[in-house]
Amino acid sequence: MVEIEKFDSEASYEVTLRPSSWDEYIGQPKIKRNLKVFIEASRRRDEALDHILFFGPPGLGKTTLANIISTQMSANIKTTAAPMIEKSGDLAALLTNIEEGDILFIDEIHRMSSAIEEILYPAMEDFRLDIIIGSGPAAQTVKIDLPRFTLIGATTRAGMLSNPLRERFGMHFRMQFYTTEELTIIVEKASHKLQKPALNDAAHEIAKRSRGTPRIALRLLKRVRDFAEVADKDTIELDITKYALDELGVNEIGFDEQDIQLLELLVSARGRPMGLSTIGAAISEDEGTIEDVLEPYLLANGYIERTARGRIATQKSYEHFRLTSPQEEKEKDGLFE
Ligand SMILES: Nc1ncnc2c1ncn2[C@@H]1O[C@H](COP(=O)(O)OP(=O)(O)OP(=O)(O)O)[C@@H](O)[C@H]1O
Ligand SMILES: [Mg+2]
Repeated sequence: MVEIEKFDSEASYEVTLRPSSWDEYIGQPKIKRNLKVFIEASRRRDEALDHILFFGPPGLGKTTLANIISTQMSANIKTTAAPMIEKSGDLAALLTNIEEGDILFIDEIHRMSSAIEEILYPAMEDFRLDIIIGSGPAAQTVKIDLPRFTLIGATTRAGMLSNPLRERFGMHFRMQFYTTEELTIIVEKASHKLQKPALNDAAHEIAKRSRGTPRIALRLLKRVRDFAEVADKDTIELDITKYALDELGVNEIGFDEQDIQLLELLVSARGRPMGLSTIGAAISEDEGTIEDVLEPYLLANGYIERTARGRIATQKSYEHFRLTSPQEEKEKDGLFE
């Protein structure tokens, strides 16, 4: 079976808290604006929407957007992930089961095998499936016409997508980290749905510590709600929020233990660039996770920099740990010369 549903510890709130309309989808203003235009245009022409690629760090709302698009287009959506499509027959089964205007959502699309990609190209471009039946000299290619469908691909690593695949998507959208203000609204709305309203300053506190990521904000909200529950509070207030978040080990600006480990490592290198493999070995984390999950937020907020020779900590990181940076040291030395 190719279709999948992601069931994890978050599944219970994913169901209730996932926005299903543009109004509920907070933030990403540019993406929303553009998508609304393209959706309206294709509806007027009564055509399927062009293929769409979403990329960016986990938990920023790619899957949610795919679902909103399907609602807006009044289209059916079939969801799968690239690693689930192992054989050409898996893809053929998916594609021959869709109807005109349907959406096929493929998550983790950077993990698609090249053999499957080859089959996807004509399907995306000419809505045609070329399947090879049999092998050796008796092999035959069968061409099947497909209905016009929309492929929505999502990936945390656009850099790992092959060029031909990337170019077959008519729209590319890079997801942005959310501002604290946007996350505050997300937390407030979700807390009402969970029937434990968060006061504005409490929601703001959770937002501030969520690494710009709705999924993290919602996870923290759920944990803070547990603390409020046990303390017999009807609402989520600031003091219990701070207490809960401290207990959870989430610091004032949302760094978790791994962020701190990574930053401490780079700070201790004192300006010497460090490669991904060295970092990975030092903090016992897989290189892909460092690149996809850990680094983007630290890069976007100016705590680290990527150079050709590796990663270095910025002035901001030294300030965070209240340390003198190599740069400041040099300037100080200069004064005494
Ligand atoms: N703009 C938003 N407004 C409100 N809630 C959001 C928004 N974006 C995401 N969420 C919530 O955050 C959670 C994570 O979103 P989603 O699953 O769409 O992320 P994703 O980008 O697909 O992550 P992954 O890369 O791990 O697949 C969901 O529970 C969703 O309800
Ligand atoms: Mg997703």
